[in-house]
Amino acid sequence: MSRSAEHADRDWSAADYGQHAGFVVDLAADLVDWLAPPPGERVLDLGCGDGTMSLRLLARDVAVTGVDASPAMVAAACEQGVPAMVLDGHDLATGTAGTGYDAVFSNAALHWMKHDPDAVIAGIKTVLRPGGRVVAEFGATGNIAPIQAALRAEAEARGHDADALDPWFFPTEADYRDRLENAGFSIERIECFERPTDLPSDMADWLTTLARPFVMAFTAGAERDAYVCDVVERLRPELADANGHWHAPYVRLRLIARKPEQD
Ligand code: BEZ
Repeated sequence: MSRSAEHADRDWSAADYGQHAGFVVDLAADLVDWLAPPPGERVLDLGCGDGTMSLRLLARDVAVTGVDASPAMVAAACEQGVPAMVLDGHDLATGTAGTGYDAVFSNAALHWMKHDPDAVIAGIKTVLRPGGRVVAEFGATGNIAPIQAALRAEAEARGHDADALDPWFFPTEADYRDRLENAGFSIERIECFERPTDLPSDMADWLTTLARPFVMAFTAGAERDAYVCDVVERLRPELADANGHWHAPYVRLRLIARKPEQD
């Protein structure tokens, strides 16, 4: 299946994302300070989602263009007034989203681009002007590890290929540093840190909103409900407290890397 067909099949719900995963943007709000964009800069928001983070950049008089692989998310971004287009991060090098950007900014998106992370980095380099920078936060090794393990185990128990369903790439700091340096970037800052996060709703909501490539592999109705329920019950002892409040062990990688003035 092509990547665009894959996305059409598993597309996001912008409303669900806002309700159950709004914290992803709130907790990374200071990533904008890492970018520290002077007014008038041209910034590409890679994996802009529903445009919430792009709006924060627009509020700083930045000329933002958003790209996202999800048509539903791009529609939501455009509704919020963010200039955005549907484009998979693997296809940045086509130049469809323009070139000569001062910066590429990306929050909670690069871990969805697992097919070829080096092609994504090459695309980022293509769209940046010489001396431009990439400022990004995404999941690192260990991110949501028990959730990913439970999703995989219950899928395998039902005869599915977990590697095929698993959409995420959570690299180590060393791995991602190497990839950037091999592409010619110089690392100005890189940090890996844990961010244990209280969830605003229950684990079933998190799964149906954020783990769609797993969940949508099961037929809607009893089969899908049983899958979600069994994943939830696997996780309850570790991730729910006595009052039924859930938390998730997020681990983040944050970085600033610069494209050379001359290649
Ligand atoms: C994350 O932001 O780390 C994330 C979001 C959705 C699914 C998996 C990880």
